[in-house]
Amino acid sequence: MKKEKVIIFDTTLRDGEQAAPSSLSVEQKLRIAKQLAHLKVDFIEAGFPISSPGDFESVSTIAREVKGVGICGLARAVEKDIVACAKAVKPAERPRVHIFLGTSGIHIEKKLRKSEDQVLSLIRDSVKTARKLCNDVEFSAEDAGRTDKDFLCKVVETAIKAGASTINIPDTVGYTLPEQFGSIIKMLFERVSIINDKNVVLSVHCHNDLGMSTANSLTAVAHGARQVECTVNGIGERAGNAALEEIVMAIKLRSDFLKTYTDINTREIMRTSKLVREICNMPVQPNKAIVGSNAFAHSSGIHQDGVLKAKNTYEIMTPQSIGLKDNRMNLTSRSGSNMVKTRLADLGYAEGTYDMESIYARFKMLADKKGTIYDDDLVALVETRDGDGEDFEDKYVLRYLNVSSGVGTVPTAAVRIAVDGKSDKPAVACAYGAFEATMKAIDKIIAKDGIDKIEIDDFSLASITEGRKALAKVTIRASAAEGSFVGSGVDIDIVQASANAYMNVVNKIARMKKFNRRVPLADGRKKSYIGELMDKFGVD
Ligand code: KIV
Ligand code: ZN
Repeated sequence: MKKEKVIIFDTTLRDGEQAAPSSLSVEQKLRIAKQLAHLKVDFIEAGFPISSPGDFESVSTIAREVKGVGICGLARAVEKDIVACAKAVKPAERPRVHIFLGTSGIHIEKKLRKSEDQVLSLIRDSVKTARKLCNDVEFSAEDAGRTDKDFLCKVVETAIKAGASTINIPDTVGYTLPEQFGSIIKMLFERVSIINDKNVVLSVHCHNDLGMSTANSLTAVAHGARQVECTVNGIGERAGNAALEEIVMAIKLRSDFLKTYTDINTREIMRTSKLVREICNMPVQPNKAIVGSNAFAHSSGIHQDGVLKAKNTYEIMTPQSIGLKDNRMNLTSRSGSNMVKTRLADLGYAEGTYDMESIYARFKMLADKKGTIYDDDLVALVETRDGDGEDFEDKYVLRYLNVSSGVGTVPTAAVRIAVDGKSDKPAVACAYGAFEATMKAIDKIIAKDGIDKIEIDDFSLASITEGRKALAKVTIRASAAEGSFVGSGVDIDIVQASANAYMNVVNKIARMKKFNRRVPLADGRKKSYIGELMDKFGVD
């Protein structure tokens, strides 16, 4: 039997980004989109253009700059959404407009407050409008998992007759069970003949509220779905979406059963996963399938013994197949910039895609501290910068930090901070812990500019490379009078990484104060806000 292709439709930058602790800048989204193209996904859903000027700009920038992949934008079944979406995706090699509308009884009655006939008319009109502006239109029956089956058939038929060539069946609330979800796909093929007549692709989009998103998506594939919507590391609304890496590796490993394949370059999975963790500030749990740090670690003696004798006793895939390499020792502080550049090229970073001067300066600092720089460290240097990668001048620069703490001492921090590039200001503070003392010392300096009462809402620390000299990444969520902020910092020293993250927050607050603006606190969302600011003040 000939294997059929499953289209991988990646929605990390839309459904995934909706759930990230802070919204991403255009530059950050572009970096992820370029890596997704490298991974060879078929479609990138780059955003929801009408939702904000920043989202529009991200989608149109990605459509202009990322080639070899379809670029899609999301729109409600509303003319202004569709027009904005079609405009944003237009520069793409393969543009697509994706319209969604709730179709379950709950959505129709409680959210839309419309009759079924009105919903069908909206579908017909919106898909027709979109088809006038874009050749490739996808329609999603939001909450299809809880939609009445007879009505779902009418919805699918209406959207196809109006010109949709992909019909997406989302389990929006992650409620269905695999057999049940698969049977919806089977039923649609049996009852809506126009699907096959017009070669329409049935797609699925499963959320993970009951931990079923991968199982539901694969069961749908077994019943004929030929597009899966998914996200890297499974990020997305609430419990997230089906994880791209799980879908792709299951299709690859179990093609005997599913009789399908994808075009994904699986050796790029790990790098993509790490990039998304870093940029979105969303770590993955150690036991996460495929990309967790324990996914290829064998702990029990019996397992280790088995693997030593024959890897396939306990390994169903090789670490190399997802791009995990042996950590090779190669670079030290004596390595020249050419050596670093060559190693970066081996790791897939083409010259010109990173700032060599700044990478090399950070490389030297790190090499002085660590001695040996491993591939992981190098990747971390390229993929992480303290903060969010936005190119604003920082008002405050931490020039010196000295912390003493330990048993029987009062933790004390001394800092020197340059303010607006002028001479350093010193401060000293004591507290219960080293980081608290550091924050208190920094606070003494920034209080003079009216920045005070910064509350730490969340603090997380993760090692992003391995071993005793691992690089630490600290992420802080904080709130102040100016709003809610996420800051991050990276260093081999955890107090220094924490101080960097705190300085990142402080500089964001200073920026808001300068522009006399406030980030809405309500649900932590500040979509497009930086984009708006940049437009308003002409900052590049
Ligand atoms: O979960 C959902 O239903 C969605 C749609 C917009 C496809 O994200
Ligand atoms: Zn969704």
